Parts: sequence; structure tokens; C-alpha cells
Amino acid sequence: MRGTTVDGRVGPDLTHVASRRYLAAGAIPNTPGYLGGWIADSQSIKPGNVMPPQPLTPDQLHALIAYLGTLR
Ligand code: HEM
Repeated sequence: MRGTTVDGRVGPDLTHVASRRYLAAGAIPNTPGYLGGWIADSQSIKPGNVMPPQPLTPDQLHALIAYLGTLR
């Protein structure tokens, strides 16, 4: 994410992720529900992709979805 201290080297640039209509190269619509499902277990949506499941609590996942929703 540009403009933050995050220095990710793997995966897509999420700087403006909330402005996208689709995620994961068109695999899913960019809605809170699909986004949460992708973060928790992207393998169930796009098997074999490089992103590992993220073991977050429901509170953490909701906070993350809300944050990513601000990245316009
Ligand atoms: C909480 C942590 C993470 C979040 C919130 C997150 C979020 C996302 C989102 C929203 C996308 C879709 C982006 C797009 O459509 O442009 C994505 C894709 C991807 N992420 Fe993650 N990610 C996380 C962790 C990781 C990790 C740890 C890795 C790798 C070690 C990773 C690798 C990837 C890759 C390779 C894709 C592209 C998948 C594809 O379309 O084939 N992500 N991630």
C-alpha cells in the first residue's frame, strides 16, 4: 500500500482496492462479503492462487474489511 509504512513485496497493490469493482482478476465482485471470504480463505474461491488463508478472528476480519473499504 502506497502512502503507508507497509512494505509488501507479494500480491497486488491494494492502495486503491476499494475503487475496484472486482477482485482477484475478476474472480469475485468487490463487496464486503466477498472480500472477507477472500481474505479468510482465498483458496476456496480461486484454488491454487498464491495467497495463503489468513486466520483472523471475526473482529479482526471486520476491522480489516472496514479499513480496506476506505482505500479508494
Ligand atoms: C491480511 C492479509 C492480507 C490481505 C488483507 C490481503 C488482501 C488481498 C486482496 C484484497 C486481494 C485481491 C486484490 C486484487 O484483486 O487486486 C489479494 C490478492 C492476492 N494476495 Fe493477498 N492479502 C493478504 C495476505 C496475503 C499474503 C500473506 C500473501 C502472500 C504471501 C498474499 C498474496 C496475494 C496474491 C498473490 C494475490 C493475487 C491472487 C490472484 O488473483 O491470483 N496475500 N490479497
